Amino acid sequence: MAIDKRDLGRTVVYQIYIKSFCDSNGDGIGDLRGITSKLDYLAYLGVDCVWITPFFPSPQRDNGYDISDYCAIDPVFGTMADFDELVAEAWSRGIGIMLDMVLCHTSTEHAWFKRALAGDERYQRYYILRDGRGSAGPGDPGEPPTNWQSAFGGSMWEWEPRLGKWYLHMHDVSQPDLDWTNPEVRAELARVVRFWRDRGVAGFRFDVVNLISKPDVFEDDPAGTGRALIADGPHVHEYLRELVQASGIDSMLTVGEMAATTLDNCVRYTNPAYGELGMVFSFHHLKVDYKDGDKWALMAPDIDRLREILATWQERMQEGGGWNALFWNNHDQPRAITRFGGRTGVGERGGSWGHVGKALAVCAHLMQGTPYIFQGEELGVPNAGYASIDDYNDVESANAYRMLCERGASPAEALRVVGERSRDNGRTPMPWDGSPAAGFTTGTPWLAVPQSAERVNVAAERGVAGSMLEFYRELVRLRHELAVISEGRVRFLAKDDAAPQVIAFERWLEGEAEARAREAGEPTHLLVVCSLGAEPASLELPVRYRRATRVVGSYDEARIERGVLALRPFEAQVLVEGQFAG
Ligand code: GLC
Ligand code: CA
Repeated sequence: MAIDKRDLGRTVVYQIYIKSFCDSNGDGIGDLRGITSKLDYLAYLGVDCVWITPFFPSPQRDNGYDISDYCAIDPVFGTMADFDELVAEAWSRGIGIMLDMVLCHTSTEHAWFKRALAGDERYQRYYILRDGRGSAGPGDPGEPPTNWQSAFGGSMWEWEPRLGKWYLHMHDVSQPDLDWTNPEVRAELARVVRFWRDRGVAGFRFDVVNLISKPDVFEDDPAGTGRALIADGPHVHEYLRELVQASGIDSMLTVGEMAATTLDNCVRYTNPAYGELGMVFSFHHLKVDYKDGDKWALMAPDIDRLREILATWQERMQEGGGWNALFWNNHDQPRAITRFGGRTGVGERGGSWGHVGKALAVCAHLMQGTPYIFQGEELGVPNAGYASIDDYNDVESANAYRMLCERGASPAEALRVVGERSRDNGRTPMPWDGSPAAGFTTGTPWLAVPQSAERVNVAAERGVAGSMLEFYRELVRLRHELAVISEGRVRFLAKDDAAPQVIAFERWLEGEAEARAREAGEPTHLLVVCSLGAEPASLELPVRYRRATRVVGSYDEARIERGVLALRPFEAQVLVEGQFAG
C-alpha cells in the first residue's frame, strides 16, 4: 500500500510523540504497541497518516533525537516485530506510517562517533572537527573555532581531547553534526532511509534538514548565533535531491523541518520540478509572541504580524508551485490553545477554551497545504501548567531556566517563562480518560500528567456533540470531501481596520476542477474568517458571500446582517456562497 504524493491536499497527518502517547507495558513510557492499540482511535478521527517521533536506540538526551543506531528499535519502545505489526495494522485501516529521520546529527553514542574517538580517521571524516582559535599546537584547545551558539544554549563547539579537535554540535553536546560534504556520509544516510522505506512506511519527516549543508567558510556571526549562516546552506538542495533519488522515495510523502528558513528556499524544497521534498514546516508564524525574536521573552501574540506571515507564505508558495505543511503545534512548541487564548486556555485573552481551539483549527485546516494534528490538540489540551521546575524534563527548559536566573530573573519569574515556553508543554501524556494517570499508563508516567487531563480527555469527548474532538473529525471529513479545500487556490483579504484581529481568506476552484465541483453540487468558493482575539468585531463581507451559508465554525451559527458578519471572541466561520447542504 502507499499514499500517493499527488494527494497532498487531501492528506491529514497526525503526529505522535511516542514517549507520551500510550504505554503498553506499565513502565511509564509510551511505546509502539501502545500506538497499535490506539489505531482505532486514529481511524475514528479520520487521519490518513501518522508521523511518529524517533524510536531508534538512543541515550535519550534529547528524547530520541540523539540516535545511536539508525536501523534498529530502542527496546524501551519495542521490537522490530512490534514495528512491522504496527505498519501492517495501520495499513489495514488505510493509515500510513511516517518516520522521523534525524540525519543532521547522531548521538555521541553512535558507533560512527565512537570509532572516530578511537582514532579511526575514516569516521573522523563523518563529523565536523576543527582546530581551536589561537591554539598553540596539538593538545592545546585554544578558543572555540567560531562564536556560534547551540540551539539549546552554550557554544556550538565542544573540545574533545581524544580527537584533539573541537566538534560542531548545533543542538546538545551529545548531538555531533554529520559532515554532509563527505559522500560516504550521504550514501550511508540514503541507505538508512531506504532501509525503512523497504519496511513499508508511507513517508518521512526530516529533522532540521535545512541545516545539513554548513557554510564553505566558517566565520564568526556578528549578529547572532550562527544559525542564519548555516540555514539553507550552499549545497542543501543538491544534497536533498540526491538523498531522495538514492533512497528511492520520490513518490512518497515527505516533509522537511526547516529552521530559520526563507520562502524562496521553501519553494525550491517543495516545487515538484526540483525533485526534493513534498512539503515543509516553517516556523515564522510561531514566533509572533517572541519579544524581539527571543523565545524566552514573553509577549502577547501579534495577530497583525501573524496575518501577514500566513498570507505571504500561502500566496507566494502557491505562486512558486510549493506546498506548505499546516500546523500550530508539535513536540517543540507550547500548546497553541494557551499561546493564542491565554494561560490554560480559559481566557486570559478573553476567549473561552473551546472557541479558541476551534478558531485555530479552522484557520489551519482551511488553508492550502497539508494539515498536521499534534496528539492532544484535537482534544484541546492546554499547556502543562506545572507548579515546580522539577516537573520539567526537557534539556532546553533546564538550560533556559538557568539562563533566566543568571540574567537576574527570580525563580518564580523564570518558572513562569519556562511554563509558557517549555517544549514539555507539548510532551505531556496523552489524556485518554480522567483517571490519575490519564489512561496513558498503569505505572508512573515519565512526565507528569497535567491537571487539565481530568476534564480534557478522549473519554469525555468522543461521540459528544460540540466537543473539540468531534470538531476536528468534521474538519478532516470536510477536507476529504470538498475539492475547494483540498485543491482550491488561496487569497487573503487585506487587513480590515475595523477588525484588526481578524484573519480572512478565500479558497476557490478554477477551470475543470470548478466544473467538476459544480457538477457534483459542491461549493466552488469558500470564505474563511477567523477572529483571533477577545474583542467583538465585524467584517463587511465580499459581495459573493452576502447571502452565504455557513459550513462550519467555532460558534454554532454565523450572524450576518446586511452583508456584515458580526464576530464574537475567537469566532471563526467558514462560509460558502448560496445554499449548501453539507
Ligand atoms: C528538531 C526536533 C527537536 C530536536 C531537534 C534536534 O527541531 O523537532 O525535538 O530537539 O530537531 O534534533
Ligand atoms: Ca512502555
